[in-house]
Amino acid sequence: MKILITGSKGQLGRTLIKLKPTKAKIFAMNRNNFNMLDIPNCLKVIRSINPDWIVNCGAFTNVDLAESNKEVAMEVNYHAPKAFAKEMKDLGGRFLQISTDYVFDGLRPNMKPYTTNDKKSPLGIYGISKAKAEDFIEDIFLGTNKGIILRTSWILAPFGSNFLLKILNLLLKNKEIKVVNDQIGSPTNIYSLAEVCWKIIELNNLEIIFNENKNGILHWQDNGQTNWYEIALKIRNFGKEIDLINYNTQVTPISTFDYPTPAKRPAFSVLDCNSAKRVLDHKGIDWRCGLEKIMKQIHLDKNNKFYINPNYKI
Ligand SMILES: NC(=O)c1ccc[n+]([C@@H]2O[C@H](COP(=O)([O-])OP(=O)(O)OC[C@H]3O[C@@H](n4cnc5c(N)ncnc54)[C@H](OP(=O)(O)O)[C@@H]3O)[C@@H](O)[C@H]2O)c1
Repeated sequence: MKILITGSKGQLGRTLIKLKPTKAKIFAMNRNNFNMLDIPNCLKVIRSINPDWIVNCGAFTNVDLAESNKEVAMEVNYHAPKAFAKEMKDLGGRFLQISTDYVFDGLRPNMKPYTTNDKKSPLGIYGISKAKAEDFIEDIFLGTNKGIILRTSWILAPFGSNFLLKILNLLLKNKEIKVVNDQIGSPTNIYSLAEVCWKIIELNNLEIIFNENKNGILHWQDNGQTNWYEIALKIRNFGKEIDLINYNTQVTPISTFDYPTPAKRPAFSVLDCNSAKRVLDHKGIDWRCGLEKIMKQIHLDKNNKFYINPNYKI
């Protein structure tokens, strides 16, 4: 089975390759051989490979920077996946689009987890660009059972740009850090997310996904709900427990109001993952266990730089 992975040097792309099943032949695309700002060239590459699946992990993921780089964000997050999806529809292949909880506005009455059938209402450019890509993919693959949208949230990995590594670096350098406690959601450990992608690709019958949601949307994040402050506390406490850090940095909760950012974020973005759990026969793990699993892969060198062993085992 030929699998073309875009954004293959990103957090999910790298982990998908690490966890690849033996029968999957990977075509790893990155900015050099597959610049998503050069769509005609990407289409040529897709045609020449004629993959069974594209897993579209490539994205403009800096939510704040997207606000001041609207055109590039729209090109990478909307126009590129739109063109790739259309090409795959013509070629008869399957498409797995990775999407986000930021397609929701977080103004959920009763704080009930968002289901795959809830209406999208993004707050910022990143969310808008991803929501537009979803809309196109839903439409073009409608009735074919070949286009899947997997929404996830707050990815944590032992490498790349994510909250865990940002907090670890801040803990090293500060006596006190302030972290917002009024955005409710759940982190997603990168290993579970990659496993879920492979489970989707390996399903014999994709129809069962469409029986749950006719647009082929699934949700995945770790179990339980929390906020960024609680995650930061857990990082500090577990970091000390495993001797990754030995500082007594104070972690102080603050409100989103006191931590203004260029992009608005949903105040609540817990996703209902039950249909994914059912169709993929996967229970998921508590977010704290997911975080611990990742933190155990991280080491600190003598120059105070966090790193992972390139031959790390999962
Ligand atoms: N990270 C999260 O918390 C989060 C949450 C919800 C959903 N998601 C979604 O999950 C997916 C995977 O995210 P991730 O965390 O793995 O993201 P990531 O680590 O930021 O990786 C994104 C990849 O896309 C590549 N990319 C960006 N612009 C490109 C371009 N013009 N041409 C080719 N490649 C380009 C980046 O390449 P460079 O490294 O060269 O920049 C990077 O390798 C994305 O679709 C994202 O929207 C992420």
